Amino acid sequence: MKIPAVKGFRDVLPDESIRWWVLEERARAVFHRYNFREVRIPIVERTDLFQRSIGETTDIVEKEMYTFADKDGTMLTLRPEGTASVVRAYVEHALAQHERVSKLYYFGPMFRRERPQKGRLRQFSQIGAELLGRDDAAADAETLLLLYDLLAAFAIEGAEVQLNSLGCHTCRPAYREALVTWGRAHFDELCDDCRRRVDQNPLRLLDCKQPGCAAIRDSAPRMLDHLCAECQAHFARVRELLRREGAEPRLNPYMVRGLDYYCRTAFEVVASGLGAQNAIGGGGRYDGLVRALGGPDVAGIGFALGVERLVMVLGERALEADVRPEVVVLPVGEAAEALAVAVAHRWRTGGVRVEVESAGRSLKSQMRQADKHGARFVVIVGEDELAGGALTVRDMDARRDHPRALGVHLTAEELRAALARLSAA
Ligand code: HAM
Repeated sequence: MKIPAVKGFRDVLPDESIRWWVLEERARAVFHRYNFREVRIPIVERTDLFQRSIGETTDIVEKEMYTFADKDGTMLTLRPEGTASVVRAYVEHALAQHERVSKLYYFGPMFRRERPQKGRLRQFSQIGAELLGRDDAAADAETLLLLYDLLAAFAIEGAEVQLNSLGCHTCRPAYREALVTWGRAHFDELCDDCRRRVDQNPLRLLDCKQPGCAAIRDSAPRMLDHLCAECQAHFARVRELLRREGAEPRLNPYMVRGLDYYCRTAFEVVASGLGAQNAIGGGGRYDGLVRALGGPDVAGIGFALGVERLVMVLGERALEADVRPEVVVLPVGEAAEALAVAVAHRWRTGGVRVEVESAGRSLKSQMRQADKHGARFVVIVGEDELAGGALTVRDMDARRDHPRALGVHLTAEELRAALARLSAA
């Protein structure tokens, strides 16, 4: 009997994983330009870390966490996101005492028990960044520019960055009250979930996808009209700095994010062609979080991109990375095996991507195999070649043979030069 993968958990096979790899390589390069450094955080954390950071009344904590009791009774959870873990590590290792600003990035799987659908999985992967130790608007602007640069490096086209401000502990309570009042006044028109949200998590009234709720949303009060003077000035400065760099995210006063730790600047990246799950990334400022998790009063801002959704947006579009073999070596007959292994080993050690077929099959069937690898050159090691001390090259693109064109002692460099000569000939 076959054992299938668990619903919402999927395999990434080589044709797709190459795209992941390219995304990660490019992301690393951009992160390093911004002087972010990698942090590797565990996949399992104590459950209360997420309860305290993401928020008890969020969908994630209420319904979506993979939580279990360890053998000693400790409640543990598979991380549903990375920010809480990064902040936990930041506090645990007292990074604030060692550096004024910490800029950290991470890659890895996250787990949320959502209803699986296109673009929504129970295990998905994020590319994330967190900047701790700065509360000035320039930090927000730089974080958003980092996000724009990542999208450009991935060659994502047609994605829209949406921006909002969620206020702070000074101005949000009054806004929250205004929303509750509005929610109560429209109680009959709200969906069941939103009726619960009115008192528990009224901000989430704004991004409900139910048609009835969306239809009356325009009449709801907006955070942007309730910002205190400091939040207003901060938001204006963020936008001004971005505008100077030619980045103009679209204001979306109804975007509230699904995690409770945010304040002030919040943003999402929305892509077309993905259907309902169209957010390829999201983030924002979380100034109270480090303190809430037992650390000093240090501000933070960050974001995460969903790798599966990025890969879907990129679709079949070629990502330049070439990991196909450059050369396939075909040993024809058992006697050729040792020489094939030796030349391949020498060339690989010198940096050439080489595949070796197994000896003992007909040249024809080996050729068919070689073709599948997509290499331009096939090097044949047969009896004639063994006797003559030189190898035959077949140029698969030009469909041409070059009998005994390569000496058996060629180094990787000499091989490259010889192949370049042959392709020019
Ligand atoms: P988030 O908006 O919950 O933010 O997730 C970020 C991205 O992860 C989403 O935009 C989406 O692309 C992807 N994602 C989320 N859930 C799923 C799913 N079930 N299946 C596939 N992809 C998914 C956070 O996680 C915050 N920690 C971001 C952040 C970092 N804020 C500040 N710093």
